[in-house]
Amino acid sequence: MPVPKAELHLHIEGTLEPELAFALAGRNGVELPYADTGALREAYRFQDLQSFLNLYYELMAVLRTERDFEDLADAYLARAAAQGVRHAEIFFDPQAHLARGVGMGTVVEGLWRALGRSRETHGVSTRLIMCFLRDESAESALATLDAAKPYLDRITGVGLDSAEVGHPPVKFREVYEAAAALGLRRVAHAGEEGPPEYITEALDVLGVERVDHGLRCVEDPVLVERLVRERVPLTLCPLSNVRLRTVDTLADHPLPAMLDAGLMCTVNSDDPAYFGGYAADTFDAVRDTLRLPPERLRELARNSFLASFLEDDEELRAR
Ligand code: HPA
Ligand code: ZN
Repeated sequence: MPVPKAELHLHIEGTLEPELAFALAGRNGVELPYADTGALREAYRFQDLQSFLNLYYELMAVLRTERDFEDLADAYLARAAAQGVRHAEIFFDPQAHLARGVGMGTVVEGLWRALGRSRETHGVSTRLIMCFLRDESAESALATLDAAKPYLDRITGVGLDSAEVGHPPVKFREVYEAAAALGLRRVAHAGEEGPPEYITEALDVLGVERVDHGLRCVEDPVLVERLVRERVPLTLCPLSNVRLRTVDTLADHPLPAMLDAGLMCTVNSDDPAYFGGYAADTFDAVRDTLRLPPERLRELARNSFLASFLEDDEELRAR
């Protein structure tokens, strides 16, 4: 049985496997520009974050009804459970759906149909984190937060994702202040393709409690020292970094050095349908390729729960 772990960096739209994409396309009468699942998988050769995002947004066209979002989340949770995930904090991208005429209620209630019963059906507790698309405007992010207000009992926090370079965290100061005032937890992608300064800005301007990716902190020793001192969790995604070419090969990934430096690292699967591995696949890959010893793997698993938004002592002790 795979080691019990929490998944803290997982985009639910990035769990859309080709088989489900075609099934939903058929159900909804959506035409996909690929002959079959094989042809679609062929398209999964990415040069960078943007080339991945183009396909990621394109395939979302098949998600239209509450049931689609329920089926998507249920399929992910079943896979996650089989990979030892006991707790999942799940990102979703409402702006990508609102732009296609799919309402906030359809997305959140659909996801919730699966998430709300996940402890019973899959033995996986869940949280939902709503991400703003950083290549959209700050006004659009504010409107999205507003649209989410009827659903805040379902949403634990806010995040920031999509194309990073040229869209610094400071652009979203106001919406993060508004989210904090609503009692929402805050995270943001920073330092995936963007510079280390974006990590500092996410902490100081947006008040994030965790940094998603944070990989490029390694370029700034002063920042590394701060992240160690403040025990800021980083949700690293090594297989994603390889596929999006932020590292050359998995063997070159700085995870071992980051752990040695005392950083609070977690490993996660990001968009597993696209990047070739779910949670245990990712743990296995870093164990084998980076030769992480058992105590480091235990540390990664422990960090995943410590860095989670599980609050209740009971809930944590049960893990
Ligand atoms: N980075 C930024 N935005 C994203 C990603 C990612 O890896 N996956 C889905 N949206
Ligand atoms: Zn991500």
